[in-house]
Amino acid sequence: MPDAGPDPLPAASELAQPVPGFRHPVRHAPLADPFVVGPTTVVRAAPELAAAAATWKRRTEDATGLTLAWEATDDGADEAGRPTVSFVLDTTVPAGGYALRTGSGAVVVTASDVAGAHAGAQTLRQLAGPRAFRRAPVDDAPLTVPSGLDAHDDPAHAWRGVLLDVARHFLPKHDVLRFVELAAAHHLDVVQLHLTDDQGWRFESLRYPRLTEVGSWRRESGVGTWRAGVFDGRPHGGFYTQDDLREIVAHARAHGMTVVPEIDVPGHVEAAVAAYPELGTRKQPHEVRTTWGISTEVLDPSEETLAFFRDVLDEVMDVFDAPYVALGGDEVPTALWRANPDIVRRAADLGLDDVADLHGWFLGSLARHVVAAGRRPVVWDEAFRPGHDTLPRETVVTAWRGWTVGLQAMAAGHDVVMAPEQAVYLDHRAGDGPDEPVPVGFLHTLRDVHRFDPLPAGALAEAGVTDVDALPGRLLGAQAELWTEHLDSARRLDYAAFPRLAAFADVVWTGEPADARDTEAFVARLERDHLPRLAAFGVELRPLDGPYPWQTRPGVAGHPRDLASELASGGYGGVGGWVEDASGARTNEIGG
Ligand code: ACM
Repeated sequence: MPDAGPDPLPAASELAQPVPGFRHPVRHAPLADPFVVGPTTVVRAAPELAAAAATWKRRTEDATGLTLAWEATDDGADEAGRPTVSFVLDTTVPAGGYALRTGSGAVVVTASDVAGAHAGAQTLRQLAGPRAFRRAPVDDAPLTVPSGLDAHDDPAHAWRGVLLDVARHFLPKHDVLRFVELAAAHHLDVVQLHLTDDQGWRFESLRYPRLTEVGSWRRESGVGTWRAGVFDGRPHGGFYTQDDLREIVAHARAHGMTVVPEIDVPGHVEAAVAAYPELGTRKQPHEVRTTWGISTEVLDPSEETLAFFRDVLDEVMDVFDAPYVALGGDEVPTALWRANPDIVRRAADLGLDDVADLHGWFLGSLARHVVAAGRRPVVWDEAFRPGHDTLPRETVVTAWRGWTVGLQAMAAGHDVVMAPEQAVYLDHRAGDGPDEPVPVGFLHTLRDVHRFDPLPAGALAEAGVTDVDALPGRLLGAQAELWTEHLDSARRLDYAAFPRLAAFADVVWTGEPADARDTEAFVARLERDHLPRLAAFGVELRPLDGPYPWQTRPGVAGHPRDLASELASGGYGGVGGWVEDASGARTNEIGG
């Protein structure tokens, strides 16, 4: 390997800089020749890192049309003296991190685990430029990697997630596989697959087939916001077979990604109740929901319902290998529980102070089932009630209404993923111009997303937390969300996700405090280096200055919200969703 030289050289910024940017200084002393991926190149990998090396090899073979040689070892140099790309095991490299050194004749990715090897492999791919993101070669020019690079990097956060809602609009399997690859290309490592909601059930249950026979089909949906009262009269839906999902899980694993399945209970259940009306409180025929917004329909919190969902979760845990299983728990109005004397009595018999406590009791019960199976439950923050916490400690809380509830959950001992809608809901509008298609939610521009802070000083101050490391719960990381009520195709999803997901990825990998972050440098790198990669991959992203004409939706109403006025009343403590008083009356229903 070349000696990369003692000085941290500013030339790193002249490189085809990866997105996300490096967290640590990079030394770059370019040699006369770059590293060339050619017909004699050999890939060598320690067995522990082979999965990452094999995926890099496959993608590179696609992009170059070459067939690269493979050696299942990272020992020494290649005996035949061929140009090598080696994946070397070194237990001193921090978890999830990697070192990357490039010479003219050799590239070495060093990692202590396969996650780090995946991250290093993705950086290597980024360094090879847009051509490395194509599925076939466009000419005879070789793929090259800048030589003389000496970098080491590791992620600030272990959970670098993105939620993909496949319930509101079914996303064909092909597009899920593609989305997983794109997330991995941005150094993310978790896709939370939101499989069930009022508007659709996407998980094939062999035990309860009506969940998909009935629950996966939606009669119609709104044209733009449901508040406009315009509907399309077009049925749609679909579901993934268990083998489809196993394929998605395996594909994700091959790209260093974990797929966290989400079955949302005890609210957001109209599709399940349509399939099996006995799951509902009224035991009457029901329909898969055609509008968005918050439904009053909730599960009957009975032993029979719990048994049903334990069965479903057993099937889910058979299909998904993730250490985490998400149980939903958001937006659970209690009006139907309060209206049902049997349910009111049940709450009293269980010793609960109030009918509303059935929410935490129900989720706590399923969470214990998940824990008993050796997995960790994940819930939305409403399921955690400060002072009334009934969730097992292992439960991860995803804070979406704001940062404060996340800090409260950490104080109560839960690990937390920060996903505040005030910052990282990427279905929310990316611009405030008149051409923004179906503009809903808060304004989250590319630059806004890049200024996201999982733990802003203001939130810590507001919550009275002086030492976050002293809290018994940890910050696992952060997650961006893509709800798909208004993202009804892979093209619309591309538009919402990119390039904002690159900004999120930069934040969650580097972990820099927002005030230390150079957003303009990020945007410059993005324009120069990364947008061409996304274009080569075939991503139909939102141009930085606004949509192409065909990306607009003239005349289709959205429902924009104003962050400044909602924050004025909520601070970091949460502004989203809705508020329900002790009688079950609801106000502030601004979500959806
Ligand atoms: C959510 O946005 N209801 C989690």
